Amino acid sequence: MQSVVLCVVVLKCVVASCGAAKVSPFTDDARNPFALKSSHSSRSDGSDLIVCYLTGSPAFWNKNAAGVVEPKDIPDDTCNTLNLMNWLGIRGDRLSWSNDFNWQVSLKQVIHEWRDRNTSWPYNKDGSRAKRIMVTIGDAGQLRNLVRSAELDQGLLRRFAVNVRTFLAWTGLDGLDIDWEYPGWHRPWQERPMFLALLAELRKEFDTALPPLSRRLYISVAAAASRGIMESAYIMPDMGKYVDWINLMAYDYHGFVWYMPFTGHNAPLEAAKNENGTFSELNVHWSVQRWLDWGLPKEKLVLGIPTYGRSFRLVRPEVHDIGSPALGGGWTNFTDACSILNSADGVRVWDSDSQVPYTYRNGTRDWISYDDEESVAKKVQFSREFQLGGVMVFSLDADDHEGVVCSVGRKNKKKFPLLRRIVAEMRKTF
Ligand SMILES: *[C@@H]1O[C@H](CO)[C@@H](O)[C@H](O)[C@H]1NC(C)=O
Ligand SMILES: *[C@@H]1O[C@H](CO)[C@@H](O)[C@H](O)[C@H]1NC(C)=O
Ligand SMILES: *[C@@H]1O[C@H](CO)[C@@H](O)[C@H](O)[C@H]1NC(C)=O
Ligand SMILES: *[C@@H]1O[C@H](CO)[C@@H](O)[C@H](O)[C@H]1NC(C)=O
Repeated sequence: MQSVVLCVVVLKCVVASCGAAKVSPFTDDARNPFALKSSHSSRSDGSDLIVCYLTGSPAFWNKNAAGVVEPKDIPDDTCNTLNLMNWLGIRGDRLSWSNDFNWQVSLKQVIHEWRDRNTSWPYNKDGSRAKRIMVTIGDAGQLRNLVRSAELDQGLLRRFAVNVRTFLAWTGLDGLDIDWEYPGWHRPWQERPMFLALLAELRKEFDTALPPLSRRLYISVAAAASRGIMESAYIMPDMGKYVDWINLMAYDYHGFVWYMPFTGHNAPLEAAKNENGTFSELNVHWSVQRWLDWGLPKEKLVLGIPTYGRSFRLVRPEVHDIGSPALGGGWTNFTDACSILNSADGVRVWDSDSQVPYTYRNGTRDWISYDDEESVAKKVQFSREFQLGGVMVFSLDADDHEGVVCSVGRKNKKKFPLLRRIVAEMRKTF
């Protein structure tokens, strides 16, 4: 059954040459700050991606709900691609939406308050829209059902792809982002090829059915950073042909788990000197190199940078190095890391091996691994040295978006300090 499905989806055109680009009304590249580095950017449209995940459900918008970022809050000239999470699901062979918020109104809000808002670079070099809105599907159960049903029903992926394309054309959105964590988790021998078949079907539909749509529709995948998951989830280099880019989830390398109850970095850039064997693979550098070695073109690799962190509860307050015994822990955000740093006993430690900080409240059990302005800047520099397609920020909500807690002791309040530092670093010429 699988081989039948796979045979149908022969790639019809080379990805880079597909899609009809409009001629840009702006011939003046100076308008586009990202065009400054067009000699650096390896992407064909001349712009590096700055993909941002908007994770707070629109059900909470317009209610001044604490902790929820709305489209109007996103600073000008920062993100150029917005991934809308928690909007859509899949039912049968179609996209479906929840009724607990009026998604059409919310969509108009994103388009009006973010995409069409004044921006200094409306078009890319190739005439494509400089600000893109992608919609993310990410319910693992629903995705699993989709590909399992497709094993028995050969036309299902095709119908799904047509439905997605129609939805994108109708709403004016730019593409589909798939955040399936993870294909192959349950039945690798089936889900792995079926996931590839899904991507192939989407690519075929997006590319061949363009008119009367004159714009390109994009496909991105939020992909794993660890060897085990990569190998059971994805088929490379084929997958690299179908996607426009991959959002590398270069984080969650360490977090509290009962079977490894020790402190560690959520997203270390480099391996520590004393790490060997599989432990030396738990870092951003290893994952990036592995994807490139696996055949993903560098311009299709987008480096994920977390604004969130991992908290740990130390067993003994006085033992607070990397690898210290922990009792528990969880997810946390930059704001919470700053609260510790602001406290009288807050200590920041920069790990020069891993190129990321951690913080603890001296004399207590509170310990947090996080990224700050220094480490996100290093990661951007790294992505540019490797000439990757850009960076992804996960997520807007976890940054200090109100600009209060992390600005303590500074002259000016700064909203979204991590996002702003990432963008500033992207714009530097070198
Ligand atoms: C956009 O910004 C520019 C420069 O700040 C300004 O001159 C222009 O009027 C703005 N346009 C809109 C539609 O707000
Ligand atoms: C890894 O390092 C530890 C101690 O640092 C050592 O005992 C072990 O033999 C090393 N393993 C390998 C595979 O090199
Ligand atoms: C994250 O940040 C918000 C403030 O925006 C705060 O209220 C919340 O408690 C923080 N921590 C976690 C774990 O979400
Ligand atoms: C932590 O607290 C102990 C005991 O008060 C003190 O001796 C030590 O210097 C503190 N460490 C830091 C890094 O502040």
